[in-house]
Amino acid sequence: MTDEAATGRGTGRARIAASILDADLGNLAHGVRRVTAAGADRVHLDVMDAHFVPNLTFGAKTIKALRPRTQVPFDAHLMISEPGRYIEEYLDAGCDSVTFHVEIEEAIAPTLKAIKAAGRAAGLAVKPGTPLSALEPYADLLDIVLIMTVEPGFGGQAFMKDVLAAKAAGARQLLARKLYGGEVHVDGGINRETAEFAGSQGVDVFVVGSALFVRGRDMGREIRLIRALADEGYQYGLNDGKPPIPHDRMAHLASLPKHLAHRLMGEIEATGIPVIMLRGEGQINPDGVRDYDLLVPASVEEHVVANHGTSRDRLLAEADDWRAGLLAKQG
Ligand code: DX5
Ligand code: ZN
Repeated sequence: MTDEAATGRGTGRARIAASILDADLGNLAHGVRRVTAAGADRVHLDVMDAHFVPNLTFGAKTIKALRPRTQVPFDAHLMISEPGRYIEEYLDAGCDSVTFHVEIEEAIAPTLKAIKAAGRAAGLAVKPGTPLSALEPYADLLDIVLIMTVEPGFGGQAFMKDVLAAKAAGARQLLARKLYGGEVHVDGGINRETAEFAGSQGVDVFVVGSALFVRGRDMGREIRLIRALADEGYQYGLNDGKPPIPHDRMAHLASLPKHLAHRLMGEIEATGIPVIMLRGEGQINPDGVRDYDLLVPASVEEHVVANHGTSRDRLLAEADDWRAGLLAKQG
């Protein structure tokens, strides 16, 4: 498997596998370059044959053409009826891990063995309606358990929270026989609203698709945010087992007029720490616009204050001058 450390990806525990299903299908190479530049830990490749699922995407030939475009590991998700028939093509295409569905009619163990024999990670995926027990017969051959939290076939669907809550611990149990390296993956509806809960369930790899391809959204920032929220959720999952309330996990750093809030956010984000900038409920400035609140992950609040507290205080003072200046102009 291509070494994640070599590509200098996420520092936290959570791994982000960016799905290119919602990228421009007319220019997948660009999609792969974009998610690489944005800091994705893996490229998630949704292969659909219009038979196992009601959609058709791309196959091994396309993946082979995309392979040289990035160093980031290729995580293939085969939603096809006959993975065994085509497995050599996917291995030859350079997939670092191959996950297919337990609901197929084909024999499963030989395909898992073929993937492992090629030195790649082998995984099985379960649809929302499929019990985890269906994986039991193959537990010793599994490196990856992929929990679908949407019906496979399309991006942009709603996250099925109960499905993950019901299966995450069992998936970890299934992989517990492995000395090391077993991974629980979640796929479907992961975004900044659902990442923290998914993290609290102990998931290792988070497949994210449509949430990264929202027009006008900074993909790199979205990946950092989802990763930070997932890590935060995991910590809280460890702490008390109760799903955390997301908003409490972000600490309020400052309230500033928009242009100054942008400046402080930019300074902090340049160090890789995600910042949420929200229109506040605080004071209305002489230009009629309320101050904006800057929130940072609670787990790094001390670090942010230690490194950016001086800038914050300078900008707070500048804000006062700016308000006074505006008021003077307004007479
Ligand atoms: C759906 C695919 C997913 C999908 C995720 O069948 O397996 O990987 O692309 O997309 P979002 O994150 O939009 O649910
Ligand atoms: Zn997928």
